Amino acid sequence: MPPAAAVIGTPAASCAAALLAEVRHPDTVFMMGDNPALPKMPERPTLKDFFLLRFGQVPRMHLLQSARVARENGLGEKVIMACLLHDIAIAGLLSANHGYWGAQLVAPYVDAEVAWAIEKHEALRYFPDESVGYRYPQAYIDYFGPDYNPPDYIRREHEAARRHRWYMTSRLVTINDIYSFDPAVVVDYDEFEDIVGRNFRQPEEGLGFDGSPVAHMWRTMIWPNNFL
Ligand SMILES: [Fe+2]
Ligand SMILES: [Fe+2]
Repeated sequence: MPPAAAVIGTPAASCAAALLAEVRHPDTVFMMGDNPALPKMPERPTLKDFFLLRFGQVPRMHLLQSARVARENGLGEKVIMACLLHDIAIAGLLSANHGYWGAQLVAPYVDAEVAWAIEKHEALRYFPDESVGYRYPQAYIDYFGPDYNPPDYIRREHEAARRHRWYMTSRLVTINDIYSFDPAVVVDYDEFEDIVGRNFRQPEEGLGFDGSPVAHMWRTMIWPNNFL
């Protein structure tokens, strides 16, 4: 059964009745537990396991390449960490409102400034800041058309973020958020193992099992196809 958020508004949204009818057959069940189509996660998964075993190739490389650019630009570990994590919601959970989902996912494990920068990068992306050479992305013109206007709540988020003391941390995420990444450039996750070790409080029980307020979000990425 596909997640409702993935299929509302599409023909697949009407599949529930057919699936519920099918499951009355004694040989048919809904998926609960490990999906054999996915690599098995270790019992106590770490951030690295999600990167390597769950995230798709394109978003994984986007995150790693953005973090590498931030490091090459000589930025601090908080910014590099925020770049490494900024789109993890797109990589493993949901694209819509990805800055907010992503910030919540990591908030218990990173510095508050890192989570804040991740949340706000979504809104800041739409608004240029010429003082630091950030322009409206050409990719957004391609994605959304030349006349797309962000909604009011995004405008308000941007205005409030600009007045915040951590504004530049989030702005730096948008500056190092590379769009046209080269598929030939492969970045190894291990390049960031040190930075992750110092800036991400990996729970001993594993992500998804530490009883934190966001553990269920990590479990959703471990077993994304579970019926319940
Ligand atoms: Fe993003
Ligand atoms: Fe991004």
